[in-house]
Amino acid sequence: MKKQHVVDLILKTTRSDLKNAGSAFAPINIALCKYWGKRDTELNLPVTPSLSVSLQPLGTTTHITIAGGQDQVYLNGECKDSSSEFYKRISLFLSMFRPDADTFFTVRTENNVPTAAGLASSASGFAALVFALNDLFSWDLSRRYLSVLARLGSGSACRSVYQGFVKWRQGELSNGSDSYAEALNYTWPDLRIGVIEIATSEKCTSSRDAMKRTVDTSILYHAWPDKVERDMNLLIDAIKARDFEVLGRVSESNALAMHATMMDSWPPVIYWVPETVKTIHKIQEMRHSGIPIYFTIDAGPNIKILFLAEHEQQVRQSCSALTVLSPFAMNP
Ligand code: PMV
Repeated sequence: MKKQHVVDLILKTTRSDLKNAGSAFAPINIALCKYWGKRDTELNLPVTPSLSVSLQPLGTTTHITIAGGQDQVYLNGECKDSSSEFYKRISLFLSMFRPDADTFFTVRTENNVPTAAGLASSASGFAALVFALNDLFSWDLSRRYLSVLARLGSGSACRSVYQGFVKWRQGELSNGSDSYAEALNYTWPDLRIGVIEIATSEKCTSSRDAMKRTVDTSILYHAWPDKVERDMNLLIDAIKARDFEVLGRVSESNALAMHATMMDSWPPVIYWVPETVKTIHKIQEMRHSGIPIYFTIDAGPNIKILFLAEHEQQVRQSCSALTVLSPFAMNP
């Protein structure tokens, strides 16, 4: 099934009343249990469920209006060339929502996270774009539909339509209508996430290509669905019980298993740089010295750490280039 068909099915259920402008914010999210591997590459349907935590105030703010002639795309104030990958991805996505072939959009998008450095700005980007379109056309769509539309832009974007802990159900249907994110109604005010920025340059292999290569060539990937099933259950129980040791251990083990499947692919995908490995060793040393601190890594070299508020000072002293986030500061 094509993306356009899914969009048409959803928009058929709602009215459309074009305003002058639409705008919205969506947070980035990091997965504690990763989405890795698609069962449908057109609709970004995953092989397994995944679980994330949204990291407001980091994210994307998007403003959209109708334009004449052709789409205009601005990223952090810079007008993107129509030949750039960023422009093409946005413009292609917008094409599914044009009321007619002569309608174009001006999109101004501001990221307060480095673009394409493994900090998932494509997730907040597509979620904010879908929210902004919902505002521009006054669709008034439910979160479930907005999550499905965001998934068509980038899989993990379906989780960025919520704050806090979020589960993405993998679904079974071929049209993907049962593959959407849901908020888990649990909070954890003392949970801290640190983002250690190791590199901000664009990554060499996209997560789309790396996932495909893993699914096509990795033998280890065969064990991934079982690993995810176990980790999802452990993580949800840990969140409910606020058991930090289990949350940290399972998140770290899940990220390492995902990277193991990539490294087992051919040609291998290795996102880590020397500084990534150095930081992993440092975190292990800190743990051995008694500080409960764990890490996770997405499709890039940067490291995100998990710890509790009571250890914030010690962690700040030990880690440079660190941004500390309190995901539940706004809804304790
Ligand atoms: O949504 P994508 O295609 O950018 O893939 C994201 C993949 C990971 O960040 C590595 C894992 C995840 O669940 O976010």
